[in-house]
Amino acid sequence: MNIQLDKHGRLKHFLSIEGLRRELLVDILDSAERFAPVGERAVKNVPLLRGKTVVNLFFEPSTRTRSTFELAAKRLSADIMNLNIEASATSKGESLSDTLRTLEAMNCDMFVVRHQNSGAAEFIANQVASHISVINAGDGRHAHPTQAMLDMLTIRRAKQNFEGLVVAIVGDVKHSRVARSEIQALNTLGVAEVRVVGPKTLIPSQVEALGTKVFHQIERGIAGADVVIMLRLQNERMQSALLPSAHEYFQAYGLTERRLKLAASDAIVMHPGPINRGVEIDSAIADGPQSVILQQVSNGIAVRMAVMAMAIGTQAIAGAN
Ligand code: NCD
Repeated sequence: MNIQLDKHGRLKHFLSIEGLRRELLVDILDSAERFAPVGERAVKNVPLLRGKTVVNLFFEPSTRTRSTFELAAKRLSADIMNLNIEASATSKGESLSDTLRTLEAMNCDMFVVRHQNSGAAEFIANQVASHISVINAGDGRHAHPTQAMLDMLTIRRAKQNFEGLVVAIVGDVKHSRVARSEIQALNTLGVAEVRVVGPKTLIPSQVEALGTKVFHQIERGIAGADVVIMLRLQNERMQSALLPSAHEYFQAYGLTERRLKLAASDAIVMHPGPINRGVEIDSAIADGPQSVILQQVSNGIAVRMAVMAMAIGTQAIAGAN
């Protein structure tokens, strides 16, 4: 059984896109659509998670993911506590299990976890008391499911549906948890084609087995694409220098106006952030009319509200039984 679902098949933890049905992904998107207007109102919250306590448990630095989880929790009226783990107990030698027990003793309801090791969120989900939900906010190179879902919401809003779409993911696919989760989500939602584009050193082996077509030339990889997703060079995850230089990378793989003309005329350009201007993407594109990069950020709040409400909602129902 999928550890992410309760015995009724409802979302309990959100750790990965893998193994989740298309209907559940569509439910998350539909629910996010209902939450999106909350952020545009004068009073930007709903009382859905009043009295619930959410902990942002970040073992790795983050700006937009951490802050949009925080805003999502606040817009649902939950109490949220941000734990900066590097500056906290584990650096004093406390084990992860002891940290978790301590947080459980504070009667927390949800842990939002970011960790440098693949599998960390699932490890925590297996450890915590049964009333606690765990949301993966990015684990190593493995998965970043809420980022994938906010990207799916951004695509659906721009293109209405997924059928027939050609999506190109360009750059450092090898070190990208975002790319892995996106590939799974795009295939589950039934796009026509997922392409991964990059130099051999940055494309994982056997990525075709995940349902992708591999291209090593950006011009061919983005030709006719409806959606172009650019990825950051994740230098912090590279064991050794896999590339000559940022300048040469931009020459070979940077998204420029000239190259973007090869994609569909109404193609959208996405990037999970943080952006390296002039490395993977030209500023003119990042700030241009086809860029939906800032919409991704706003959509992230709505998607995170949806996931938190679904996971804690599951608990409420389970508790009532
Ligand atoms: C991504 C991440 O941390 O995996 N960023 C994010 O969540 N917005 C991608 C990246 O760091 O390049």
